[in-house]
Amino acid sequence: MTAPPEVVARVAALRAELIEHNRRYYELDEPTIADAEYDALVRELQALEGEHPELLTPDSPSQRVSGFAPTLFAPVRHAEPMMSLDNVFDVADLLTWGERNERRLGDAAVHYVCELKIDGLAISIRYEGGRLVQAATRGDGRTGEDVTGNVRTIGVIPKRLAAGAPEVLEVRGEIYMSATAFAELNRHQGEAGLRLFANPRNAAAGSLRQKDPGVTASRELAMWCYQLGQVEGGPDFTTHWQTLEFLGDLGFPVNPEIRTFDELSRVHEFAEHWQEHRHDLDYEIDGAVVKIDELAQRDQLGSTSRAPRWAIAVKFPPEERTTKLRNISISVGRTGRVTPFAELEPVFVGGVTVGMATLHNEDQVAQKDVRPGDTVIVRRAGDVIPEVVGPVLAERPKGLRKWTFPTICPCPVKSTLVRAEGEAQHRCVHPACPFQRAGAIIHFASRGAMDIEGLGEQRVYLFADLGLLGDIGDIYSIDGDRLRGLEGFGDTSVDNLLAAIEVSKERPLANVLVGLNIRHLGPAGAEALTGAFGNLDKIIAAPEQALAAVEGVGPVIAASVRAWFDDPAHLAVVDKLRAAGVNFDAPADQVVLEPTLAGKSVVVTGTLDGYSREAAEAAIKARGGKSPGSVSKRTTAVVVGAEPGASKVTKAEELGIPILDEPAFERLLATGEL
Ligand code: IVH
Repeated sequence: MTAPPEVVARVAALRAELIEHNRRYYELDEPTIADAEYDALVRELQALEGEHPELLTPDSPSQRVSGFAPTLFAPVRHAEPMMSLDNVFDVADLLTWGERNERRLGDAAVHYVCELKIDGLAISIRYEGGRLVQAATRGDGRTGEDVTGNVRTIGVIPKRLAAGAPEVLEVRGEIYMSATAFAELNRHQGEAGLRLFANPRNAAAGSLRQKDPGVTASRELAMWCYQLGQVEGGPDFTTHWQTLEFLGDLGFPVNPEIRTFDELSRVHEFAEHWQEHRHDLDYEIDGAVVKIDELAQRDQLGSTSRAPRWAIAVKFPPEERTTKLRNISISVGRTGRVTPFAELEPVFVGGVTVGMATLHNEDQVAQKDVRPGDTVIVRRAGDVIPEVVGPVLAERPKGLRKWTFPTICPCPVKSTLVRAEGEAQHRCVHPACPFQRAGAIIHFASRGAMDIEGLGEQRVYLFADLGLLGDIGDIYSIDGDRLRGLEGFGDTSVDNLLAAIEVSKERPLANVLVGLNIRHLGPAGAEALTGAFGNLDKIIAAPEQALAAVEGVGPVIAASVRAWFDDPAHLAVVDKLRAAGVNFDAPADQVVLEPTLAGKSVVVTGTLDGYSREAAEAAIKARGGKSPGSVSKRTTAVVVGAEPGASKVTKAEELGIPILDEPAFERLLATGEL
């Protein structure tokens, strides 16, 4: 069975979208969709792959456990795995968990330690001989990232322990940023024209994963310790409570709200209390964690491969509030995608003040039937994007009209908005739409593309208004003198911006490609193209079929890339980038060479001028050929340098196998022809 083209296209689009969201979540700490939406995309992809198994590939994001592969920092294998926690969402499930454990433990009394579930990121810190020697993130639970230098800058974490501390001590806990520090950091970021962090968790993660510990040091991170890892030469503990006291005595920060209870009903009260009072704290929590206190009982219960049976997280439900929906407006994105959004009377929900919330598309608005003037329920879970759940119908004023999607783009060009057959989204199709243009520039300068520090949203709009930026090519001719003297643009700030623009010229070609804002082309596709073609001009010149033939690209991306470069206006922008000296070449080690020697076997003997023996063999293999040590009937050619092995040359002559000198070898490498 072959899948219809629209299914093939949808699967490709879903994969590209999921790969991008994974990258945003795991690498950039900058998610742009709520977990529930992400899950819905995964489910849609899985359903399509289930109906059309021929489309399933092992590298589909539906097949992989998302979690980042540590790349930026050295990997650290945890001496003991850093486990996850299972969740319950209501009292019934909490009781089921408790009763199952109590049954397994027979008649013995069970004591529970209740902790707050801190919304930060897990860390394991290792001390040897009382000195902090290593700190690693959780990663996939077995291998994390080495962030020792950064963790050393965190004030509340002891660097040396008092005499008598265990010989080896691993302390585990959660690194977080307080709400106060978070607000202050974002205020600074905004003033400096830098990107804002979505929430304290992302700010903490972003601050910890810095190449420069000086940046981490400036970020006011803190920690609550809640667990021991490997311990050698320490006291014998019988309860978890004792381990927490021990950590406190050694000078580690242990959360003051931790309590012990003997009954699950009290455990539930603890969770409910904190659900109500979570915002009394100066740090974010997303639940309570219940742990069985007796270490012997823990051993008895054991763990699954993922999580211990002796602990459970009681997750708070997403918070909901009601507020007035003042209006429904639309925004135009960088690809012309038009998104309706709710303008709300600001309401404090889930730890942030929400004044706007996306409504995604026309169908969602219709399905929720929210109307300007309605009282609506707003929800924000422990993730990023607040959501309008629906109207409170009992409070709907009489005669409130249904909202209809505008037909004209709100931009000065006032183009018509179109919704293509089979698509959920409206689009502004006018290339001169200034909203699209600004969006494209913001994207080009963003962290996932050219990463130009200091060229964020507000500044792009400002520069566009001043006529300094019409498209991405103009970034490289911004005149610093026109900026100096503008409010907020001192000499240092202008110099920093110009330096950041200059540095961006050296970004890898894949980042340039991502920055061009070609529909469907994400980082994975961009990497694949740069590897296959080696430079931008070859990509620009490639026919659609050649683009589609690249592993990881496929027909949808290929068509989109071809169409983009077929537009003369786009080529003019590319020319501006070229003139500015932006890097158009892939790194040499990334270029996949033409497989000119596929199926061929080339023996090298003697010393060549331009190649060591290893380099010659590597050059053959890189082109798909083999380079065995001896000559046989199957040998395609023998390359002969100075002082060759006499037997190889004789054998080649006997068998009538072509003998090549160095220039002929280079021709063979390039063309595959003798
Ligand atoms: S205990 C073996 N205690 O929640 C149990 N975890 O969803 C290890 N977390 O990766 C975890 N507060 O990052 C524990 N008081 C607390 C916690 C806590 C936050 C995080 C931790 C863990 C995640 C599991």
